[in-house]
Amino acid sequence: PTSASTSASAEIGVIGGSGFYSFLDDITEIEIDTPYGPPSDPIAVGELGGRRVAFVPRHGRDHRFPPHRIPYRANLWALRALGVRQVLAPSAVGSLTPDYGPGTIVVPDQLVDRTSARPQTFYDEAAAVHVSFSDPYCPVGRHTALVSAKAAGWPPVDGGTLVVIEGPRFSTRAESRWFADQGWTLVGMTGHPEAVLARELALCYTPLCLVTDLDAGIEEGEGVTMSEVLRVFTENIGRLRPLVADIVSHLPTDRACPCPTVLDGMKLPIDLP
Ligand code: ADE
Repeated sequence: PTSASTSASAEIGVIGGSGFYSFLDDITEIEIDTPYGPPSDPIAVGELGGRRVAFVPRHGRDHRFPPHRIPYRANLWALRALGVRQVLAPSAVGSLTPDYGPGTIVVPDQLVDRTSARPQTFYDEAAAVHVSFSDPYCPVGRHTALVSAKAAGWPPVDGGTLVVIEGPRFSTRAESRWFADQGWTLVGMTGHPEAVLARELALCYTPLCLVTDLDAGIEEGEGVTMSEVLRVFTENIGRLRPLVADIVSHLPTDRACPCPTVLDGMKLPIDLP
């Protein structure tokens, strides 16, 4: 595989909704191709809090990719090709406990994959590459996110398990109750394979989950609706954007975490960009 050559570069990647464009200064739009096709949209590279940041609108700017169709491999590959080594990933999620209602920020520390039809590896050829994924998220990125949210007066939940469903439908009440009974905390549709693909490229990956609803097994009303999710997301984007900016500005420039070395000693069947 080859990567697109480009003069623009960035150190930090943000994968999020389109509400995030305006916060980058001096934006260059990068059209980039990857061995996995183009990313969700051209990538906006710009500056934020003194850092070089690349922004990918996860669903495309016109929201044309539902969660199961997002070109996850292209998005992560393109970010790495631009020089990105740390990824911050805000997303909307449902809560599996009434303790964490709409508007709660959670920085989960575990993930359960309940997706079923998404390419989830870059290592499709011999020889097999088995990355460690016991702790799916960057510990330093998580810590930075927690400190920033606390300082912003938006006390975050530290840890919890995000179960990622295939979607695009929401869960049934029985599925949702089952997830909650397992002790899992959140349910979303995009956190996998995004996190594992970042790990396979030796990138730091930090989820920042905004609860938009109580999932169907928890609430007693009509169940989750898309309009509810969008409404709560819209209500919170005004404070989520500055929080993401603050986290970006506080991510350490050196990477004193296990993420950079996860591929050390492995014979990779492809050249990374
Ligand atoms: N995204 C936001 N709310 C969700 C829910 N309840 N289930 C799955 N994904 C979600």
